[in-house]
Amino acid sequence: MNLPKLSELISLKNKTAIVTGGAMGIGFGIAYRLAEAGANVVIADLNEDAGRASVKQLADLGWKSDFVKTDVSRQSDVDAAVAFAVEKFGGLNILVNNAGIYPTIPVMQMKPETFEKILSVNLESVFFFTKAAAEQMIKQNLGGKIINITSIDALHPSSVGLAVYDASKHGLWGFTKNTALELAPHNISVNAVAPGGISTPGAGADVGKTPEMEKIMVTFLQKIPQKRMGVPDDIGKAVLFLASDLSSYMTGSQIVVDGGVLLS
Ligand SMILES: NC(=O)c1ccc[n+]([C@@H]2O[C@H](COP(=O)([O-])OP(=O)(O)OC[C@H]3O[C@@H](n4cnc5c(N)ncnc54)[C@H](O)[C@@H]3O)[C@@H](O)[C@H]2O)c1
Repeated sequence: MNLPKLSELISLKNKTAIVTGGAMGIGFGIAYRLAEAGANVVIADLNEDAGRASVKQLADLGWKSDFVKTDVSRQSDVDAAVAFAVEKFGGLNILVNNAGIYPTIPVMQMKPETFEKILSVNLESVFFFTKAAAEQMIKQNLGGKIINITSIDALHPSSVGLAVYDASKHGLWGFTKNTALELAPHNISVNAVAPGGISTPGAGADVGKTPEMEKIMVTFLQKIPQKRMGVPDDIGKAVLFLASDLSSYMTGSQIVVDGGVLLS
């Protein structure tokens, strides 16, 4: 059999990727594996200090990356981030829509501004980025890979207080499937990764703050069949699979990476 070598299939050499929210947490876990596989990685994040520190970590390992300050919920920032990647590295082949927020606020206490903010950062941003990135990918005529970070909450609620977050992630999963359909003729695949509970700065932010949050975390941990929280690299490895030729016949799919929690 004349199959490509595994090392060639997984290589992202000469590819350029944008990872939104790549300064820390899951996004940095993704940026790390894509850069290790040879991609030029552009970290597009609101947090400039953390973003530049992450780029330095990758550079110290001899990998190529750069930072562009981006608020994913602003279309002008998104267009500028895509232009930055193209200018710096000569093109764009991979987009990972990872930036997201997940405040725990019951609907009965939520203000309309907060509803709009969650939808804007978690969903409208993906519309802006997908459109700008796909325009560039279509122009290049080399295909492309778009990977959206959803959540197990795109399939099943994980806890009370996340109704609007769950709406944004169900929306993102629907958006993933329909853009997969629309972009398939251009050889651009669109897939999603749905993380379960992953230890990140964001996920840890509320733990211990109130007895209620502490209880939610303890209950969640007890429900995980693999008996541990995930780490960002658990997601980084799944995204690398979707960003590489290992997933050449996949589009419109969602990979659940949750230690089995949806089974419980
Ligand atoms: N951690 C989990 O347990 C978990 C589970 C399921 C899904 N997710 C999803 O994974 C993604 C990352 O989560 P995380 O836990 O790593 O988050 P995190 O809060 O630890 O990190 C998020 C990163 O996104 C950046 N960011 C936030 N708002 C932004 C904006 N408007 N523009 C640009 N950058 C912005 C932050 O600066 C930060 O660097 C989110 O979409 C989240 O919904 C996380």
